[in-house]
Parts: sequence; C-alpha cells; structure tokens
Amino acid sequence: MRISSGVPGFDELVDGGILKDRLYVISGPPGSGKTTFCSQFVTKGAIDGETTLFLTLHESQTELVNDMANYEFGFDKAVSSGHVKVLNVFDTEAQRLFSSSSRGSGEFPSNVENLSNQLVAFVESRDVDRLVIDSTMLLEYYFSDDLNALIKFLTKLKRADATVVLISEMTDPSSYSDGHYLAHGVVFMHNYLESGGMTRGVQIIKMRGTRIDCDIRQAEFTNRGLRVDPNTNIQT
Ligand SMILES: Nc1ncnc2c1ncn2[C@@H]1O[C@H](COP(=O)(O)OP(=O)(O)O)[C@@H](O)[C@H]1O
Ligand SMILES: [Mg+2]
Repeated sequence: MRISSGVPGFDELVDGGILKDRLYVISGPPGSGKTTFCSQFVTKGAIDGETTLFLTLHESQTELVNDMANYEFGFDKAVSSGHVKVLNVFDTEAQRLFSSSSRGSGEFPSNVENLSNQLVAFVESRDVDRLVIDSTMLLEYYFSDDLNALIKFLTKLKRADATVVLISEMTDPSSYSDGHYLAHGVVFMHNYLESGGMTRGVQIIKMRGTRIDCDIRQAEFTNRGLRVDPNTNIQT
C-alpha cells in the first residue's frame, strides 16, 4: 500500500506515494528542508488518521510547532489533535514514556539494544503508524563506539509495523552510509547557493518496488511548506 508524503509534487516522483511500513532515509545539508519535509509527512498522516512519533534531539515540541507556524500546512493542528507526538530524547517526558511501554529499568536507554527495544515497544503499544527520527546524530550519540549497533537498530526498525523516516545530516551525497544500504528508500535534499539566491532540489536515490529516475527535481518553500516541481529538472 502506498501512502502520501504530504509534500506536493513529491508523490508523483515515486509512483503516487511511498510504500507503507518501510524504512526511508532522507539526507541533505543543513537548511535543505529535511525537518520541514518530515513535518509535512506526519501532518498528512494525521489528516489520514495515522498516529506519529516524531523523535528528535534538535528541539522541543513547542519549538518545532513554532518553527512550522510560518507555514499553512497545519502542523500545529496535527499536534493538538493528538495524532502527532514530538518527543525530545533528552526530555524527562521521553524517559517516562519509553520506560512505561517496556519492561525496562525506568531509565532512558543507555545502549542501542535498549533504545531499539524501547522504541519498538513504544511503536507497538501506541499503534504508531509513522515514526520520524531527527536525526542520525541521535544514533551517533548512542552508537559512536559500535557500528554494528546501528545496523542492528535499523534492522529492528525495518521490521516494526510503522513507516519510518530517518533524517541524516549528510552533506556529501557520494559518501553513502550503512543506513542508505539498509533502507528501502533514500531521498536527497539539495540546496545550492547561486548568484540569484538558493536553488533547492529533491532527488530519489533509491525506492525499492518503485520505478524511479535519479534526476534532481526543483523544490521550493512556499507559504504552504516544501513543494516539488516534478516536471522541472535541475542541471548541476
Ligand atoms: N516560510 C518559511 N518559514 C520557515 N522557514 C523557511 C521559510 N522559507 C524558507 N525557510 C527556510 O527553510 C529552512 C528550514 O529547513 P529545515 O526543514 O529545517 O531544514 P533541515 O532540517 O534540512 O536543516 C531554513 O533555512 C529556513 O530559513
Ligand atoms: Mg532539521
């Protein structure tokens, strides 16, 4: 089953939508629109009756709502409806919620095994349909000492009964990581400084089960959020 990304123009690049309950990685440099893309993705989920956990280490729920308040796609409504829960991993609330849905120690996970178990337990006990992790810096925080741990974590999430989007703060599109190989789909967000200002683009690197091309399509921020023009290629 395919679900809408909530980003106008994007679904046309992937046969009408992304396959549900799979693992996706969205990569790109700072300011390229990754967090905005995911905020639209989870808002669309809320509109379609789906429940989201947006796990972040970059901001609080209030800060993210404020950041998205410039746009009219309705992120604030998605949050206030209760369909979207933003959790900062360092908040005490995150520790409380995670430990309550697993038989853990009552503390926030101290290693990868605990983190993936608690996250999957949370997703299952709360019937979470869409899971966003912003960003891989979170995983590096836990897994800096153990590369296999990242593979185990992602493998576990791949099997979870939710559509997972992992944001990756990568700046060099040619340096692929384990996450890119493991994921069902990989999307790159680009931004180029040109004389006239910032040019933005979206590129589908891979999408299993879906016919794609790897051209970079033009993207822009409007007052309704990120928008992709599926018919305009960017030449680099
Ligand atoms: N109307 C707008 N409201 C908020 N941010 C906007 C707007 N138009 C453009 N932007 C820019 O969008 C960028 C935010 O993108 P974001 O999704 O946070 O990127 P990333 O998560 O990839 O770092 C910021 O650089 C911001 O200046
Ligand atoms: Mg971001």
